[in-house]
Amino acid sequence: MSAQHFFSLFVVCILMSFSQFVHHADAGYTLKEVEVVSNNGEPVRVFTAEELKEYDGSNSDKPLYMGIKGVVFDVSKGERFYGKDAPYNVLVGIDSTRAVAKMSLEKEDLNHDISGLSESTLKSLDDVFEGTYVAKYPIAGYMDYLLEQSPEKFEKLKVWDTRGTV
Ligand code: HEM
Repeated sequence: MSAQHFFSLFVVCILMSFSQFVHHADAGYTLKEVEVVSNNGEPVRVFTAEELKEYDGSNSDKPLYMGIKGVVFDVSKGERFYGKDAPYNVLVGIDSTRAVAKMSLEKEDLNHDISGLSESTLKSLDDVFEGTYVAKYPIAGYMDYLLEQSPEKFEKLKVWDTRGTV
């Protein structure tokens, strides 16, 4: 074997072990925890799915709200994306976590079920959550399912919950 061939083989081995490492890191991906925060000590609003529906753009007097990972963002300033008759209107007035993760507008993905999603799809969800929504839009509140799943996140906060549990 010539020195050149040996060198190519060596490079291939390095690349293979690196890709294995990347694959391994990917397989271990878990979705980042959501943090529940209050705006200046104000009570945090908790939405039921039915309440969130009022903010789907069909009533132009109301803001546009979109849930992702149980966090409700006020996406009103993205009206050209999300408003009535805009291309991504189906994503608002609901928690559209699954659709955002999969970059899908299909009816079966318009929900917050993350079961069966691949590691890279979950990673993509976190990237879009942080890079677009946290970076760009104010938080209007949180979904009731988040409160039910993780009550400890709300423990030290005042909650404005129209279901009357607080
Ligand atoms: C052919 C396919 C698609 C193309 C070419 C496309 C293109 C774009 C472009 C160029 C923008 C940025 C517009 C701007 O900043 O002015 C955008 C925004 C966006 N896209 Fe798509 N898109 C596609 C499919 C999808 C799909 C399937 C989804 C499903 C979730 C999606 C979700 C979004 C959302 C939510 C925004 C707005 C993000 C924000 O609030 O800033 N897109 N798209």
